[in-house]
Amino acid sequence: MLRILCLVLCGLLTHTRADPGALLRLGMDIMNHEVQSAMDESHILEKMAAEAGKKRPGVKPIKGITDMKVKDVKLPVITLSFTPGVGIFQCVSTGMTITGKSFIGKNMEITVVLNITATNRLLQDEETGLPVFKSEGCEVILGSVKTNLPSNMMPNVINKFLDSTLHKILPGLMCPAIDAVLVYVNKKWANLNDAMPIGQMGTVKYVLTSIPTTTANYIQVDFSPVVQQPKGNTIKLADTGEAHEFPDDYAEGSSQLLLSAAFLTAELALLQKSFDVNIQDKMIGELPPQTTNTLAGFIPKVAEAYPKSKPLMTQIRINKPSKVTMKAGKSLLHFHGTLEMFAAQRRGKAPASLFLLEAHFNLKIQYSVREDRLQMTTSLDRLLSLSRKSSSIGAFDEKELTGFITDFLQEAYIPAVNDVLQVGLPLPDFLDMNYNLAELNIVENALVLDLKLG
Ligand SMILES: *[C@@H]1O[C@H](CO)[C@@H](O)[C@H](O)[C@H]1NC(C)=O
Repeated sequence: MLRILCLVLCGLLTHTRADPGALLRLGMDIMNHEVQSAMDESHILEKMAAEAGKKRPGVKPIKGITDMKVKDVKLPVITLSFTPGVGIFQCVSTGMTITGKSFIGKNMEITVVLNITATNRLLQDEETGLPVFKSEGCEVILGSVKTNLPSNMMPNVINKFLDSTLHKILPGLMCPAIDAVLVYVNKKWANLNDAMPIGQMGTVKYVLTSIPTTTANYIQVDFSPVVQQPKGNTIKLADTGEAHEFPDDYAEGSSQLLLSAAFLTAELALLQKSFDVNIQDKMIGELPPQTTNTLAGFIPKVAEAYPKSKPLMTQIRINKPSKVTMKAGKSLLHFHGTLEMFAAQRRGKAPASLFLLEAHFNLKIQYSVREDRLQMTTSLDRLLSLSRKSSSIGAFDEKELTGFITDFLQEAYIPAVNDVLQVGLPLPDFLDMNYNLAELNIVENALVLDLKLG
């Protein structure tokens, strides 16, 4: 009994287990768009007509009709609906005219309107790990049938024709069309597993956590993204233990991509080294000249040590992994590191360290999408702490430097960080998704992209 309970509970636990770094919710808008464009790309209409016109071995000619041809296949109208737990139910409404010679030698035309229905089951390809649709239970449902045969030949001939022939022939003609469309839809997932570069610093791969799930309103794809350094070391996503949820205020039928803060943090870990910078420009933006003279205005001891003004050189080293956090509407990038200021010496001599400060500061992140990459731009949110670790000019109160360092971070360091971030973070490549129209929202512990079709 206990064991059974555990099986059930443990099963539930693994299901709600901490989550994938990214979630994708595909609504009907995207599925309709994809299937429709797959229909266009696969030239299904032409293929159906060509198929229909072919002489096929093994198919008996229709009794009483010779020289049969299919023409005027009508532009198919596709209707999709989600089948929870399975995939997508697809109905293709179309029609066609079948021509031939009747047994009394007259030209005859039969115009049928029909629906082809099938269930496209959503699976995960065992070999590639990619999502695939596979059609099942294809059926042809006849709607209206019109003919130019004299009415006294109806309904007998027609009924026979329908029963014995159309029902047998049409699925063979029409069902491959459904499969052909799916081939095109499936192809659009093909790049999903590819490792996408983050500059020269590493790659990210959107690997499926499990078989996508289908509900009555959407398909959900859970990703366990793999973030890798060039040498192949994988950066583990921090397990925050929180389950990520899509906010439920999105329009029905719409599609969203959710990227967790833990995932973005792992991606930024690839860039970590680039956040260490040396800054030695004398004039930076609106800042006063970067010299010991300026610094002496805050710490008089600097003037004692350097009566003659020297240019400053600043070294910033981020010594803890930077971290992205998100609260509704606001996202921060946390930096812990050291800031060391040096006075430049005469030619050939190494700069002399004035002091080394330990600093914790936050940057506010603004997200956008450019060329299907997530872009981040930061600005200084707050300098949270500053503490002196060493000094060659004697003790001083580092608080006196708060304003100076805050301005320095904003004007000199943040532009360097933004330069590094320009590389952009790749978004999952699937179904020819164009992310450039996406609307971005910061929610609890995640960024949600509301995907829009062009
Ligand atoms: C064909 O499909 C359309 C759209 O789903 C539906 O309105 C129509 O009733 C169907 N016709 C038949 C004969 O099943």
